[in-house]
Amino acid sequence: MELFYKINFHELIADILSLIEERELSSKNALERTFKRVRGKDRERARGLAHAYIFEIEKWKRKIDFIGNSVLKGIKIEELDPYLANLLRIGIFEMKFKGVVPAIATDSIVRAVKDKYDLSRAKFINAVLRDVESFDVGKALEALRERDKIEYLSIKFSHPRWYVEYVIDLLGYEEGLRLLLSNNKPQRYYIRVNPLKTDIDSLSDYLEEHGVRVTRTPVDDILKVLEYKTPITHLEGYKEGYFVIQDLASAYVAHVLSPEKGERVLDLAAAPGSKTFHVAQLMENTGEIIAVDYSLERLRKMETKMKILGVKNVKLVHADGMKFKDMRKFDKIILDAPCSSSGTYRQFPEVKWRFNKEKIKKVIQVQKAMIRNAYKNLRDEGEMTYSTCSIRIDENEENVKYALEKVGFDLVTYPFSWGERGFTEIGEMVFRSFTHLHDCNSFFIAKLKR
Ligand SMILES: C[S@@+](CC[C@H](N)C(=O)[O-])C[C@H]1O[C@@H](n2cnc3c(N)ncnc32)[C@H](O)[C@@H]1O
Repeated sequence: MELFYKINFHELIADILSLIEERELSSKNALERTFKRVRGKDRERARGLAHAYIFEIEKWKRKIDFIGNSVLKGIKIEELDPYLANLLRIGIFEMKFKGVVPAIATDSIVRAVKDKYDLSRAKFINAVLRDVESFDVGKALEALRERDKIEYLSIKFSHPRWYVEYVIDLLGYEEGLRLLLSNNKPQRYYIRVNPLKTDIDSLSDYLEEHGVRVTRTPVDDILKVLEYKTPITHLEGYKEGYFVIQDLASAYVAHVLSPEKGERVLDLAAAPGSKTFHVAQLMENTGEIIAVDYSLERLRKMETKMKILGVKNVKLVHADGMKFKDMRKFDKIILDAPCSSSGTYRQFPEVKWRFNKEKIKKVIQVQKAMIRNAYKNLRDEGEMTYSTCSIRIDENEENVKYALEKVGFDLVTYPFSWGERGFTEIGEMVFRSFTHLHDCNSFFIAKLKR
């Protein structure tokens, strides 16, 4: 493979993994940034392969680290220099998950370590990878199962320990396990039609003509992708904004909000804009939508996307959704709050490793502050959807209870046409989807009223 990037393929992967870890970038974003510097005739092929490596290594990171830590002596993989740890992870992944001949996997990693560090560290990694080669993962997992069942599941399915405990508690053992399994399945794509440019039937025909087999879903303007020949984002129809790629449950939010033409809508955590644009399209570009987000980078991407989609009624505002206050109140509010993202593990495996108990506590404080601020911005009788892509009750039902008991909202009885109901005493009034049941992100939606 000929690349003009001054490092080899394994170093490139280690670079991307380190970016994801240290700067908390998404896999997609880290890949995009790194590949901006890559030239050469094999660029596209390398990009596809890099994407597959990154996605799988992030997915299996806990299991990979278990193998590494089982053979390392006196140090843990997480304590190594992050870049060195990532090179080691790539070696373990190739050997134990991808079936690369151990000598070949070891050789390319050791060469990368020698180039980047020195001979002594190359020798160290060589010895570790030799031990990895003879390490019996199945036997070690069996021994672990005897000692600590939760830890065993957490490593076998490569999920954070807190998540395994949480879903077994929430759904029971059998169903919790089904969720873990479904999170490790290949990503499912959904396509939402842009009604400003086309309609669902014409879009279905267009997609079928271009080798994308689709089927209808419980959400009227969303198609489920069953099969495709070339990446969907390479289609002209995508580049021209005839459709967007949006998760099924995420696309239900705008319908639950039910915006009407001419209304004023506030989106308090808008970027990258899927729900804002959906609402704009349902309102047929009438009224006004104020889209707030505190990430300038994400707002800039939103600005570009808006033009492609032909959305004209959205004003972007760089502000803190916990404090933003407009002169006039709003008819409707979308609060798609920042969250632990624990419902998106199939789509974004890197988020599995980002949230611990402390960070979850902090994000819940942000969610509550946003709920309070939403109330201040909503007119009397105005309505709001509160949604998250989290599986946790404290980010969902508990926050809705907080909105009812401490802030002054009422719950709206919405006739959800699909999905599950939630937990606690308000459970019957809210929407939940789960990856193992609905083949989309695990998601939460509640409709509230001032
Ligand atoms: C779940 S995402 C929103 C996704 C978006 N609604 C969509 O459908 O495309 C949460 C967003 O909240 C933003 N965010 C986090 N804290 C914020 C704050 N204090 N004020 C405003 N936005 C914030 C993040 O930048 C992120 O874009």
